[in-house]
Amino acid sequence: MSAKPRVAVLISGRGSNMQALIEAARAPDYPAEIALVLSDKPEAPGLEIARGFGVAARAIPAKPFGRDREAHERALDAVLREQNIAIVCLAGYMRILTPWLVNRWSGRMLNIHPSLLPAYKGLDTHARVLAAGEVRHGCSVHLVTEGMDEGPVVAQAEVPVQPGDTEESLAARVLTQEHLLYPAALAKLVQTLTP
Ligand code: GRF
Repeated sequence: MSAKPRVAVLISGRGSNMQALIEAARAPDYPAEIALVLSDKPEAPGLEIARGFGVAARAIPAKPFGRDREAHERALDAVLREQNIAIVCLAGYMRILTPWLVNRWSGRMLNIHPSLLPAYKGLDTHARVLAAGEVRHGCSVHLVTEGMDEGPVVAQAEVPVQPGDTEESLAARVLTQEHLLYPAALAKLVQTLTP
């Protein structure tokens, strides 16, 4: 049997999607290994969670690189290469990537976004969905391209917007689906890369 592709998860915060990926990948028949977690924020709670699962986790802060976003990404990319990473999953990674990194990982970098793309790109999706009076909402996993939240959608999950929903109740309903969707979408990408 050939080795499973090594996946890195990039986070900036709590890391609940990262944890969902780590937990899913513990199943013997899951087709990828979560080998590394990187954060631009040393204080990201997800780093400790990853270590608790025995996954290597490192912070590569952006601050020392000042405004040179690409220099920060070169530092990230060097670690990804050194660790023999095949696929990158963005999971609450709060930095906009430069075309340099996006193109380097073209077809092999996923992001999860809390809306039914192409609707509601960008931030504050739950509040905007409620303000618009939508009756359906959800989450999408997509390949990362240069435009923010614009790459081809790999998988989506829909949830109803219920009467009386708040931003918090709606976010929680979507997040439950995110935790199922991301492992499924990553497995799907792996199957397409290694037929
Ligand atoms: C999720 O809602 C994800 O869709 C968005 O950022 C949030 C990250 O949450 N991109 P977590 O860090 O995975 O808990």
